[in-house]
Amino acid sequence: MKENNFSFLWKLFKPYSYLMLFAIFGGIIESLAMAGIVFIIKNIIDDVFIAKDLTSLKFVVTAIVVIAFFKQLGFFMRDYLYPLAIFKVVRNIRADIYNKILNAEPSFFVDNNLGDILSRITNDLEAFTKTVKLLSVNLITQIFTVVAMIIVLIYRDWQLFLIFLVSVPFLALALNYFGNKRKKYSQRLRESFAEFTQIINQILTGIEVVKLFDKKPFIALFQKINNKLYHRQKKDIFYESIYLAVVEFIGYSATAAIVFYGGYRIISGNLSTGEFFSFLGGVVILINSLQVLQRGAVQIKALNPIIDRLRFLLMIPQEEDKGIEFKGLKEKILYKDVYLKIKENQILNGINLRIKAGEKLGIVGLTGSGKSTMVKILPALIKNYQGEVFLDEHELREYRVSSLRKRIGMVSQDVFIFNDTVRNNLLIAKPDATDEEIIQALKKAKADFVFKLEKGLDTVLGEKGSRLSGGERQRLSIARIFLKRPNILIIDEGTSALDVKTEEEVINNIFSEFEKNTILMITHRLKILEKTQRIVVIDKGKIVEEGTKDELIKKKGVFYRFITISGEKFKG
Ligand SMILES: Nc1ncnc2c1ncn2[C@@H]1O[C@H](COP(=O)(O)OP(=O)(O)OP(=O)(O)O)[C@@H](O)[C@H]1O
Ligand SMILES: [Mg+2]
Repeated sequence: MKENNFSFLWKLFKPYSYLMLFAIFGGIIESLAMAGIVFIIKNIIDDVFIAKDLTSLKFVVTAIVVIAFFKQLGFFMRDYLYPLAIFKVVRNIRADIYNKILNAEPSFFVDNNLGDILSRITNDLEAFTKTVKLLSVNLITQIFTVVAMIIVLIYRDWQLFLIFLVSVPFLALALNYFGNKRKKYSQRLRESFAEFTQIINQILTGIEVVKLFDKKPFIALFQKINNKLYHRQKKDIFYESIYLAVVEFIGYSATAAIVFYGGYRIISGNLSTGEFFSFLGGVVILINSLQVLQRGAVQIKALNPIIDRLRFLLMIPQEEDKGIEFKGLKEKILYKDVYLKIKENQILNGINLRIKAGEKLGIVGLTGSGKSTMVKILPALIKNYQGEVFLDEHELREYRVSSLRKRIGMVSQDVFIFNDTVRNNLLIAKPDATDEEIIQALKKAKADFVFKLEKGLDTVLGEKGSRLSGGERQRLSIARIFLKRPNILIIDEGTSALDVKTEEEVINNIFSEFEKNTILMITHRLKILEKTQRIVVIDKGKIVEEGTKDELIKKKGVFYRFITISGEKFKG
């Protein structure tokens, strides 16, 4: 195992070393008991079966029961306590990963694939649990058994033992060859599992779109991934089986050699039958243990890629929460030469913009022009921009991230409703809100439909709010804003799914409720733009025009063309 993976495991298991010690102790008891049984075979055969001595029979039977009791006691200790320690460790890993994801740098989710992350948490963590369990429960115990058996065998007949030793280099060769193969395919198998989870995740999220369009490309893609997964599983199991077959064959050959030499010695009278069978019993147990041990060694190699994939999650870059507390905007927001590149695409291309505290600003632009990107910078959802963005006299990156998010509210294009009650969906905006406050917020957001739901605030909304319409989801997301009462409010087409009348009412409520606050409003509707004091027009990541609605129309520039193309909607 890789050095750093080993110390990784060590750190995880250290708090539970007391459990591991008891489990190891159990393993030692079990191994000693096995040695006892092998030892006593000689007495059973020589004293009872051949010498026909009744006292020996009583002794032997009592010994068998006592030894069996200790053997099973040891077995229980290792078979229960190792997994217990592992489950505790895995519970900690799960919690750790969950926290790491919650506090991840937002860019992590741009750079990494969701399905892959999911697969690591599910498939890889499961494989980790299984493999470590196998390793500890079997591997550690078998080491003691091997040592105990070797001592018994040497004590019984060192010459016979030397014959057995001849097989060891062959076993080692087999281990090395097949171990490397398994490591390779284990790694590939993990990647295939990740691809599989990824595509299933995609289909499930987009099932309606999949149904509405041609399914063939989805099927073809899936078949490719599914077949690849199958082929890798096939290789994986092939190398495991053939490895076991080879090892067993080596074991049988060694046994045959021992029977040959042992039989010869019995015939020539310098080995008792009891001694021979006791030795043979020991060899059978030893080969079995060695085999488990070797399989464990192969597993250790397979474990490396799994641990690597888990550690990747545990090392997700984390957001630091330190800096100046943002207490609310006093003077201005200032974008100064802001550029942003995502994967070779220039998304923001020199944004320069000054927004006065308390200003109501409209933002317009063609789709994909960078509007959402520009405003996402404010609550630090995007940090890797070039240039500077000031909130009053400090640059955004000097502020504590949590303080920015606490006082900057955003109703985004993509509404996130989680599978819980209406109440809990709203409480994320203000954890200590009373039902009365929640009801008021819902009313201001025109989300009266909630009151008609069979369980009202206690209605569970389904995954992604599946039991709500698009407009209903948007209104819940706006209700959150009334609870949160942010200092700077960003509305990114947050009312686009509402009918014109409801939208106007909601927007009126927002403007009167947040009269003194700064509001950035991304919208295509002229009626809403009219309520703002100034409009900026974004095109290809740049501000190309700004002014009031009337000024912009008079100018007959981009904005004018934009609203004449949009026709009806903009006549307002
Ligand atoms: N995570 C991302 N990875 C790659 N490209 C991105 C990412 N997010 C945004 N972009 C790209 O940045 C550009 C601007 O996106 P943005 O969401 O800011 O546009 P927008 O003006 O809000 O458009 P819309 O009106 O459609 O909401 C788009 O071309 C988009 O493809
Ligand atoms: Mg957008």
